[in-house]
Amino acid sequence: MTSHRQVAVVTGAARGIGHAIATALATDGWSVALADVNGDAARTAAARLKGGGCVGLGVDVRDQTSVAQLLRDAEAALGPVDLFVNNAGVMWVGPFDEEPESATRRMLDVNLIGVVNGFRVAAPAMRARGHGHILTIASAASRLAPPGEAAYAASKHGVLGYCTAVRRELKGTGVHVSLVCPVVVRTELAAGTSGGAARTLRPEQVAKAVVDVVRRPRFVTFVPRHVALLTVVLAVLPQQARDWLSERTVPDQVRATDRVKRADYERQLVDRDDP
Ligand SMILES: NC(=O)c1ccc[n+]([C@@H]2O[C@H](COP(=O)([O-])OP(=O)(O)OC[C@H]3O[C@@H](n4cnc5c(N)ncnc54)[C@H](O)[C@@H]3O)[C@@H](O)[C@H]2O)c1
Repeated sequence: MTSHRQVAVVTGAARGIGHAIATALATDGWSVALADVNGDAARTAAARLKGGGCVGLGVDVRDQTSVAQLLRDAEAALGPVDLFVNNAGVMWVGPFDEEPESATRRMLDVNLIGVVNGFRVAAPAMRARGHGHILTIASAASRLAPPGEAAYAASKHGVLGYCTAVRRELKGTGVHVSLVCPVVVRTELAAGTSGGAARTLRPEQVAKAVVDVVRRPRFVTFVPRHVALLTVVLAVLPQQARDWLSERTVPDQVRATDRVKRADYERQLVDRDDP
């Protein structure tokens, strides 16, 4: 048992799911460093959280040096980090052969390399202390692959593979590794997309699942939980039956997405020339 407030870092916490996770953890008594590529928005979000004990910090998860600086800043402000939440992510939606190369690279850099950087920076100190938890917001697209989200699904499948291997490497060290995999959540990232057969979620529902996993660590948690059953059934079916079931359950985002509703969000992915 620890006598101090537990300390969490949440990346991509200025808005959306990350902000909901930071809020739920703060409500649960954690000190939270809200980290985001938009440092000003992270600081504003942290200042608004009730109860104090939270800070807002800038980070670009694509850059390992920046993530290392984030950890130092968080520890200087709040103390040793018990929980590191890899949440920052981006998504471009549309036909694979229309995807701008800059959008593809940004998805792989933020969604996959960003997670790798989180592990490489956060795990050593946790292993040395024999205690810690690295929780990653992956996606239902870590197991399913909606048309129109080819590179996004590749990045999220990559995250699952990476975490599966690292979890084994960290077994017995006291450092937990876990993944929370939601279906479509109503945030800016998912603007204009379809939930398909699944009901879309509020960010707070994902945050609740995160708090549950933090209290009782387990490796993979789908939100909602029954999506796990779909992934198991799809995995064992012969290909023809798998195609039939996928077409009835996994949304085809090429057909179903309202591209006009995504225009503002996606312009930022393609136009931004920051490192
Ligand atoms: N919204 C969904 O439908 C959905 C479903 C499953 C999984 N997810 C995953 O949940 C996570 C959060 O997504 P969201 O829906 O809240 O998106 P969002 O766009 O609302 O928020 C993402 C946050 O990440 C920040 N960010 C982007 N690039 C960054 C970088 N390089 N470094 C640091 N911060 C950066 C953004 O500034 C933003 O504040 C992502 O990993 C996403 O893939 C989302």
